[in-house]
Amino acid sequence: MRPDPIAVIGAGLIGSAWAFGFARAGHPVTLWDQWPEAAQAAHARVTEIATDMQAAGLLDGQTPAQVAARVTLAPDLETCVKNALHVQESVSENVDVKRAVFAALDAAALPDAVLASSTSALLPSSFTETLKGRARCLVAHPINPPSLIPAVEIVPAPWTGATAMDRCAATMAGIGQKPIRMAREIDGFIMNRLQGALLQEAMRLVADGIATPEDIDTGIRDGLAPRWSLCGPFEAIDLNAPGGVRDYVARYGPMYRIIGARQTTLPDWEGATLDRIEAARRAALPLADLPKAQTRRDRRLMALMAHFRRETPQS
Ligand SMILES: NC(=O)c1ccc[n+]([C@@H]2O[C@H](COP(=O)([O-])OP(=O)(O)OC[C@H]3O[C@@H](n4cnc5c(N)ncnc54)[C@H](O)[C@@H]3O)[C@@H](O)[C@H]2O)c1
Repeated sequence: MRPDPIAVIGAGLIGSAWAFGFARAGHPVTLWDQWPEAAQAAHARVTEIATDMQAAGLLDGQTPAQVAARVTLAPDLETCVKNALHVQESVSENVDVKRAVFAALDAAALPDAVLASSTSALLPSSFTETLKGRARCLVAHPINPPSLIPAVEIVPAPWTGATAMDRCAATMAGIGQKPIRMAREIDGFIMNRLQGALLQEAMRLVADGIATPEDIDTGIRDGLAPRWSLCGPFEAIDLNAPGGVRDYVARYGPMYRIIGARQTTLPDWEGATLDRIEAARRAALPLADLPKAQTRRDRRLMALMAHFRRETPQS
């Protein structure tokens, strides 16, 4: 069966990575941005991503040209969504812009197309409430870059229908993403709430002079993260006590209760704490070298993903 046509609206960092991900899985993709030059750059970016992916063994035997040929640029939003059964909106993170774009999408898309937003922090209810087709609107929030990181949060507004949730999750699973179906919307969704909890404590430890920013990064990068790259927190604690998760809680629950009771104040994210963190980061990485470091990180991430694929071949 021919994969469903997909429309990608907004052709920046996230839109181009989505266009690649859908095209790699065989979907015909139409791409539109308010700026034609952004859409053209995104098309070139799809080829670049595909070339890097091929080098890492992540292109499933296809050539970059074959993948890029599935992405076509549309002259306007209406043409872009005309045949699409899944629309992935990735325009700027601004609620008024999302509202206007979703109104246009709801008016132009096929009645049974799912309308998904990549928004990082806006609740789906904040820009879909008044739409006639609001039952098919939801958030599909990726981790950057979705071309490499599988997890994607599927977030319903109170009026989102189960069919739209099912279809979005199936589309995402079909391109190799790992959908997380949320029961309801909540600020930060799931991944930013988890990341936020960790950052709050990291800031607190620096602010209180317990650890340096370098120590915190060492503790995660060379301590917890290698294990977290293989399992989630519940899997981790299940494997960390001979009797599994209940045994772990019996052994270490009291310690976490003492810590938790003291983790109630918000640390200062600005001022002297931020000065210390920024000084540490700029000493380790001059600002001018940031793009080089991002590229290196993405290449290493590709190697890691290729390793996971070898261990768990994709169907
Ligand atoms: N960058 C990240 O790490 C990340 C991660 C997950 C989700 N997101 C979300 O993805 C979305 C896109 O983020 P990005 O980082 O790709 O931004 P970006 O600035 O790289 O790209 C946004 C693109 O949208 C276009 N655009 C803006 N308004 C438009 C409109 N009205 N119609 C058509 N095109 C329009 C811009 O021209 C630009 O090309 C945001 O909602 C963001 O929160 C970003």
